Amino acid sequence: MILDALTKNLRKTIIAGNWKMNKTPSEAKALLEEIAPLVKDADCEVVACVPYVDLATAIEATKGTNIKIGAENCHWEESGAYTGEISTGMLKELGVEYVVIGHSERRQYFGETDETVNKRTKAALKAGLKPIVCVGELLWERECNITNEVIARQIKLDLWDVSAEDMMNVTIAYEPVWAIGTGKTATAEQAEEVCAFIRLCLKGLYGLEVAESVTIQYGGSMNDKNAGELLMKTNVDGGLIGGASLVAEKFAAIVDAASRSYEE
Ligand code: 13P
Repeated sequence: MILDALTKNLRKTIIAGNWKMNKTPSEAKALLEEIAPLVKDADCEVVACVPYVDLATAIEATKGTNIKIGAENCHWEESGAYTGEISTGMLKELGVEYVVIGHSERRQYFGETDETVNKRTKAALKAGLKPIVCVGELLWERECNITNEVIARQIKLDLWDVSAEDMMNVTIAYEPVWAIGTGKTATAEQAEEVCAFIRLCLKGLYGLEVAESVTIQYGGSMNDKNAGELLMKTNVDGGLIGGASLVAEKFAAIVDAASRSYEE
């Protein structure tokens, strides 16, 4: 236990908002200006992943603050005939630092597969971006008792051919699909159980040292009320926040809970 607590304290806690398809550039500026003073003393990494068209405004609005900006996806090719897609180079030039990859909404609605998640993850790393790779089971997969199989498969395929060195820049987000936008949060015990299992998978692939240093977030109806309990868990190193990241006080309260989540 003491060793667990020590290793948790060594990992970077990351609270990232995933704004999804919300906020125009002017609304993004206003929200970030509201959030910035509330999180300025955060003892964790604070990230806002925003729609592509908001990125330039968001980067400008957060200059001189501790808020990092992320995108919500990226393509794997450097350029070419891919109408509607955005390359890692485009993101990098803007000053984007993080990128969400393989979110369940992309897997569900836009044909994202583990293969394309893997390609995007490798492209992001190659460009010097920090991917937040999302994994998670569907409700019926949990009910059929195959959560671990689903997660193990996603981890293995999504991180295929990603080196141990590159893993230092990868964050994993465990987002049970049944908990996203439903108000149904996984219990802290359920979140801990799967996040610990993800770490076990990472240990199998990369060894103990890498497994112990990768940040694993929980996402799915995390809010200002339940964040404290979730973030206290040994293997939950942060959160990927949807709805609550669009309300400055709620997002700031989660950041605050994360700043206090280090075990004593
Ligand atoms: P909610 O917090 O709205 O449930 O969304 C979670 C999520 O999908 C973050 O990526």
